Amino acid sequence: MKAETQESRYGTAASRWAGVGPYYAMFPVSFATAAVKEHTKPGDCVFDPFAGRATSLFAAASEGRIGLGIEINPVGWVYGKAKLQTAEREHVEERIRWLGTSAKNYRAAAKELPQFFHSCFCADVQEFLLAARGLLNWRRTKADWTTMALLMIDLHGKRESALSNQMRQTKAMSPQYAIGWWKGRDLSPPERDPVEFMLKKVKWRFAKGRLDSGSGHIYLGDCQIILSRWENQPPETKAKLLLTSPPYHGVTNYFYDQWLRLWLLGGPEKPQSPGDACKRKFENKQHYVGMLRHVFAKSKSLLKRNAVVHVRTDARQFTREATIEALELAFPRKKLRSEKHSLPDFTQTSLFDSELETKGEIDFVMW
Ligand SMILES: C[S@@+](CC[C@H](N)C(=O)[O-])C[C@H]1O[C@@H](n2cnc3c(N)ncnc32)[C@H](O)[C@@H]1O
Repeated sequence: MKAETQESRYGTAASRWAGVGPYYAMFPVSFATAAVKEHTKPGDCVFDPFAGRATSLFAAASEGRIGLGIEINPVGWVYGKAKLQTAEREHVEERIRWLGTSAKNYRAAAKELPQFFHSCFCADVQEFLLAARGLLNWRRTKADWTTMALLMIDLHGKRESALSNQMRQTKAMSPQYAIGWWKGRDLSPPERDPVEFMLKKVKWRFAKGRLDSGSGHIYLGDCQIILSRWENQPPETKAKLLLTSPPYHGVTNYFYDQWLRLWLLGGPEKPQSPGDACKRKFENKQHYVGMLRHVFAKSKSLLKRNAVVHVRTDARQFTREATIEALELAFPRKKLRSEKHSLPDFTQTSLFDSELETKGEIDFVMW
């Protein structure tokens, strides 16, 4: 991208923060912003029970609305927190320097890491990552969730521009496969000074400022459980728009392909299946239908009577029909229209499923 195009594309704080961070099946921000503008006024609340990296909530906050969402995957949640409640640049820079000086205390621990980590990261990066993993209080502290989110973005990606050996940015390879793949191509981890690398990234991200409107909230957990809790005591503001994209039946569980970022957040040293809520790529049809019905029905108590419901999902038969059924059950008085479209150029869906790529996605709007 030419310098002037870069400048105009990333000329505002919102455009720089909207891209935090690599995640699967995310909304294009332009789509979320258009839906927010069409169906809400400034001050209205937008609700997303499957918030992912919080694109809908960020679009809402950028347009002067209040975003309220839930996400079960800590990776999406950390990105969301960093976008909705961003720390000051100086605090993030301090954190990075502090991790840099603390990294030496993790030298012995780095040596004990499984082979994958030695083939993926140079020694300085391994120690820095272990310091971040051990010291950042990313669940509680603004500076820490912002630092963690920025660190997760380039944890893996193209060898020339990430902390890792060659890997996709959105999806981490399995350890055995990755080791063999790097060996076959004679690829070693890039030598990086992690502090210098991260300070450069921070400089770019903050160059136009930050949003920090304080008008967005994302909760970490299973929306089926949280919504049941909120039934008795819903949040004060009722939403004018439910804007969401539920997981698609049989595509991904969002945990396996994020295993390396989940490790950085304190998870295990190899990919692991998540608990019941996201089990086996949502392959169990009965379970999937039950989840959609439950979530839409419970979301109703958070919505204004005249709220609009906008759901984007997989256009293939099973997911499509299960979604229509769950929506009509939850909102029998609303009208429903659908709009089918092919996948945008920029999508990671093709990584997982070529059938999904041909069938595309579908929008359901109820009002
Ligand atoms: C299609 S993605 C949504 C992506 C989002 N629209 C974005 O722009 O990033 C579906 C999300 O639902 C999350 N999810 C799945 N089951 C969940 C549950 N029971 N509670 C909360 N979130 C869940 C997944 O982790 C995933 O992030």
